[in-house]
Amino acid sequence: MEYPALSPRLAAIAGMVTAGRRVADIGTDHALLPAYLVGTGKAPSAIAADIVPGPLAAASEQVQKYRLSDRITLIQCDGLAKIPPEKAEEIIIAGMGGELIARILGEWPYSRNPGRRFLLQPMTKSEVLRQFLSEEGFRIEEEQAVCEGERVYTVLAVRFVGKDGISPGEKTPCYYHFGKHPGSADRASALWMERERLRLLRRRDGLVASGKEPDPVLLSLIAAADAALAGFLEE
Ligand SMILES: C[S@@+](CC[C@H](N)C(=O)[O-])C[C@H]1O[C@@H](n2cnc3c(N)ncnc32)[C@H](O)[C@@H]1O
Repeated sequence: MEYPALSPRLAAIAGMVTAGRRVADIGTDHALLPAYLVGTGKAPSAIAADIVPGPLAAASEQVQKYRLSDRITLIQCDGLAKIPPEKAEEIIIAGMGGELIARILGEWPYSRNPGRRFLLQPMTKSEVLRQFLSEEGFRIEEEQAVCEGERVYTVLAVRFVGKDGISPGEKTPCYYHFGKHPGSADRASALWMERERLRLLRRRDGLVASGKEPDPVLLSLIAAADAALAGFLEE
C-alpha cells in the first residue's frame, strides 16, 4: 500500500527517527508522520496527539484510510500531558514555535529520561529552545537543516543527559543561536546560517536606525555567522 507522501521538512524528520521505536507525534495535525512511519514499518506503533479536535478528526480519517487504527492511537491533550510514557520512545514535536516546544518538554515529568529521544522542529525562536535545552540538561545530538521551496528549517535530535552533561561550549549565545550548523558541511546548513545572519543584521540595522547602540552580544553573533559562512565557502 502507498503511504502519505511527505514534504521535504516532514521527510527529514521521518529520516531522523530511530527504526523500531515507538513514536509519539505531538501537534500531529493530519497524522502524516505517524501514518508514514507506521505504514512503512519504520515504527511499530505511534501516538498521534493534538490539542484541538479538528486536527484529530483529520488524523482519524488518515489512520482509517491506511487501515492503521490497530497501531496508531489518537489522543487529545495539551502537549504531552496525557501521553503514556511507556508508549513514547521517540517524541516528535514539529511545526510549533520554539517557546511552545520548550514549555511542552519542560512540563512533562518523563522528559528527563536518557532513554527517550526527541525530534524537535521549531518554526520560530530556535535560540530560545536551544537555551532551554542546554540549561535543563538536554543535549542536541544531531541537527539538520532542510530546505522546502524558499524556506529553510532546522530539526534537532535531543536527549536528556543531565545538567552536568552539558559542556560550556553548549551554553553560549552563539550555540543558542546557531546550534550545530556552523560545524556542518551541508549546503542546507549554510542557507540556514545565512537566514539567521540576515535576521541578526536586520535587528542591528533597526537598532542603529532608531539611534540605539547594538549590544556586543548581537555584534559577536553577526561576526560568528560571517566566520561560519566564510568556512562554508572555503569547502
Ligand atoms: C502547524 S501544525 C504542525 C503540524 C505537524 N506537526 C507538522 O509539523 O506539519 C501545529 C499543530 O499543533 C497543534 N498544537 C498547537 N499547540 C499544541 C499543544 N499545546 N499541544 C498539542 N498540540 C498543539 C495544533 O492544533 C496544530 O494541529
